[in-house]
Amino acid sequence: MSANLSFNNGGKSTVQTGLFINNKFQPALDGKTFGVVNPATGEEIAQVSEASAKDIDVAVKAARKAYDEVWGERTPAAQRGKLLMKLADLVEKHNDELASIESLDNGKAFSIASSFDVPSVAANLRYFGGWADKNTGQTIEVDSSADFHYTRHEPIGVCGQIIPWNFPILMFAWKIAPALATGNTVVLKTAEQTPLSALKMAELIVEAGFPPGVVNIVSGFGPVAGAAISAHMDIDKVAFTGSTLVGRNVMKAAASSNLKKVTLELGGKSPVIVFGDADLDQAVGWAAFGIYFNHGQCCCAGSRVFVEESAYDEFMQKLSAKVKQVQGMVGDAFDKNTFQGPQVSQLQFDRIMAHIESGKKDGATLVSGGARHGDKGYFIEPTIFTDVKPDAKIAQEEIFGPVLVVSKFTDEADLLKKAHDTMYGLAASVHTLNIKKGISVAHKLKAGTGINQHNQLTPQVPFGGYKASGIGREMGQYALTNYTNVKAVHLALDKQAPI
Ligand code: NAI
Ligand code: MG
Repeated sequence: MSANLSFNNGGKSTVQTGLFINNKFQPALDGKTFGVVNPATGEEIAQVSEASAKDIDVAVKAARKAYDEVWGERTPAAQRGKLLMKLADLVEKHNDELASIESLDNGKAFSIASSFDVPSVAANLRYFGGWADKNTGQTIEVDSSADFHYTRHEPIGVCGQIIPWNFPILMFAWKIAPALATGNTVVLKTAEQTPLSALKMAELIVEAGFPPGVVNIVSGFGPVAGAAISAHMDIDKVAFTGSTLVGRNVMKAAASSNLKKVTLELGGKSPVIVFGDADLDQAVGWAAFGIYFNHGQCCCAGSRVFVEESAYDEFMQKLSAKVKQVQGMVGDAFDKNTFQGPQVSQLQFDRIMAHIESGKKDGATLVSGGARHGDKGYFIEPTIFTDVKPDAKIAQEEIFGPVLVVSKFTDEADLLKKAHDTMYGLAASVHTLNIKKGISVAHKLKAGTGINQHNQLTPQVPFGGYKASGIGREMGQYALTNYTNVKAVHLALDKQAPI
């Protein structure tokens, strides 16, 4: 089974659309498939196999066999690293093809997918490839010379990984790279809205030389295939990125099955904090980038802007001009001028429009946007609300669309109270030219914080949530701890049995 894709930039690609298990594409056991849609038009572009719980069992068996027989500590760590580097090279070689698939399936601008998403995939694979033979344990000195102790960082085993649709190929890399570097095998479920780029990655995984069963990729729906992964008795760890609601379900399923380890990367309602002494042109640029990048579909999106009273009017003037500029860059992914593409699906479009309606009903002022853009596909105008009550839905809930809420603050105490008035704590940014103030506020915020920037992530630096935004850290050295068990070994040197 395969799909022939053609792109608006003249390119073409063929993607195998079966379930990828043991390095082979195969149909679902019950033969089921589902349609994949181009969100710029709402048209179907492919049919892919749909995994049931039985298919998850088959994939887990393959991953377990590979873990026990060829991977884990049986493949030298340096060789695991080499394979990840090889995969990174192949990603670079296929950069534009992967970016085109991503743009067609997800709607994001090809100019961004080809210069950011796909190069970041290669960077993550290479970064974690480098860690493969460097994630060593410790030797631990204790009081007595009678014994010594050391730790080993062992792979956990078979990892289930469930990814979302907002950065399909990048989330794929964030998940598989640290898992494979540390010697685990993987059963990964893509999001039902965007399965195609990971299926193309599967072909490259075979070409790179990964043994069969090390990476298994299934397309399918959350309540069936995703739930089967979270509840599986032979999966040792589950890593999930998506909504907080589903994250809770994943954790419950882990708790009531085999207590598999859980890491969660969930939603956010991240504040962009602009002090009166900020470079306002830059702050406006970052605020617009913070919310409109990836059409607002970023877990770290800066969806709430807080501006110090003294700068509020000037900030709003500059922001209105900026949003007009963004409005002129809404369009088809393959248009060179496009910055903001369509939302990923009809469902997400409807959810965002419902949030916009609730904002109006709750008495907020609609300053820009608020409507559908164009007459087909799932495009929404870049939108701004002001005068929003703190308990309004649009001030509290993750909208995951191009909808910004702007409010004022008087002083630091007022700001911190407002910034923390949400269940989330995923990201934040502080904009000020007073570096002491920037750092001091960053240290007080319950979230990873950018100073004079927003939405800037890089493989070397960890990312993850406080509060209801998640558990664990992705990227950076810290990500390795998500995928290893620490074993302590106690060795007697000169010690007699106590009895
Ligand atoms: P979702 O949380 O349902 O989907 C994310 C992934 O979880 C997908 O692969 C899905 O198939 C899977 N999933 C769904 N139900 C599951 C279950 N019961 N067990 C295991 N896996 C399951 O998110 P959805 O519905 O696509 O989007 C809803 C909202 O979630 C968005 O509006 C946004 O607020 C938030 N979201 C946040 C993301 C983030 O990066 N933090 C990414 C995607 C969505
Ligand atoms: Mg799609």
